[in-house]
Amino acid sequence: METKPDQSNTCGLDAVEFNFFCQIWYGGRVSPHVWRGEVGQEGRTRKQSKQRRKKKNMATNNTIPLLLTPYKMGEFNLSHRIVLAPMTRNRCYNNLPQPHAILYYTQRTTKGGLLISEAAAVSDTAQGYPEIPGIWTKEQVEAWKPIVDAVHDRGGVFFCQIWHGGRVSYAFQRNGQTPISSTDKGCTSGLDGVDWAPPRRLRNDEIPGIVNDFRLAARNAIEAGFDGVEIHGAHGYLIDQFMKDTVNDRTDEYGGSLEKRCRFALEVVEAAVEEIGGDRVGIRLSPYADYMESGDSNPDALGLYMANALNRFGILYLHVIEPRMVKLGDRYDGTPHSLLPMRKAFKGCFIAAGGYNRDDGNKAVAENYADLVAFGRLFLANPDLPMRFELNAPLNNYDRSTFYTHDPVVGYTDYPFLDGSC
Ligand SMILES: Cc1cc2nc3c(=O)[nH]c(=O)nc-3n(C[C@H](O)[C@H](O)[C@H](O)COP(=O)(O)O)c2cc1C
Repeated sequence: METKPDQSNTCGLDAVEFNFFCQIWYGGRVSPHVWRGEVGQEGRTRKQSKQRRKKKNMATNNTIPLLLTPYKMGEFNLSHRIVLAPMTRNRCYNNLPQPHAILYYTQRTTKGGLLISEAAAVSDTAQGYPEIPGIWTKEQVEAWKPIVDAVHDRGGVFFCQIWHGGRVSYAFQRNGQTPISSTDKGCTSGLDGVDWAPPRRLRNDEIPGIVNDFRLAARNAIEAGFDGVEIHGAHGYLIDQFMKDTVNDRTDEYGGSLEKRCRFALEVVEAAVEEIGGDRVGIRLSPYADYMESGDSNPDALGLYMANALNRFGILYLHVIEPRMVKLGDRYDGTPHSLLPMRKAFKGCFIAAGGYNRDDGNKAVAENYADLVAFGRLFLANPDLPMRFELNAPLNNYDRSTFYTHDPVVGYTDYPFLDGSC
């Protein structure tokens, strides 16, 4: 089931904004001295008149959706809280980011807005899909530069998602080699229409080399001009394959207990932090998901353990997928606040993602459930999403059939802006 575009609330305060207004205005106690003082025209005291003016201003201010309010994320002064979620678009031929990505990303750039790039492979063993970008060679770094520069020219803040697909890979390994994983169990043949080959379980002595690939990718991302990196620890890819107990069947120091299963993820974080500094590193996790048959028997414990463990590295942000996104593209409403323990445990900026629209994004910010909210499909189909949210304007529908096709324009840069232009 796909989320339908949010076309409700065409004018005035919406429910969330109204609740927020009531909470901060009427919810507080009015100091008794407000009611003392001279009575002026219309029978009001000076303080009562001041209070009325303040209330009027506040009502005006609170017509701005909370998603559109500024937020300071480390050294980055974000002008709003609507984040472009990382989205693989399969249009980087031969692993090289292409000039058409300049238009795609700049269409979605706002001054002070945060964008997270599509997943970029950290090495040639990391690739899982056709025409995805890399960030492991000099040529790839050079190809990213004009894209990053263009986003910066428009005032955007741009993070590169660095990724290893692990066992979610077919036909992309050098010389037909076997994909690597925490396990030698493959995904079920036929899953997502692919005849998955069984992966090869990484030997212990190989793991530092993979950690180093992430370290070099982080360095390369900074070299390409990105403001930082997001480590892809979600959605059933290599890092997730180590963390989740339905996949990781190791009995060494990288498997078994929660601490041991999370060790690889934390080593990757540590390496990236050593390389580029914690203030430029974020991580994405999906403890509740079982994409690509990567689920966990106790996602609450996994999520909370990671949120706490990450604090020791002082990273910039933790980006987590809602439990309602169990299968890619599905949304189940049920457990609205399951990320709250992670949000409370983690000391940095918290980004929530997965099935959000304007209303529940505003609610998440109003309730301090998240600092920022990442939007995937709505942003893909609405390059001017922040403006549309500000105006509460109608949204374009997304076309799922062109998500992963290779055309440099169709389904990529041809979604219209509000004024009809592309
Ligand atoms: C076309 C497409 C590509 C995606 N690629 C990635 C990716 O590269 N990395 C990632 O972490 N998530 C990826 N996702 C997941 C999105 O970032 C997001 O979490 C998901 O779409 C749910 O959010 P939404 O309901 O706002 O779309 C992708 C989603 C879509 C639709």
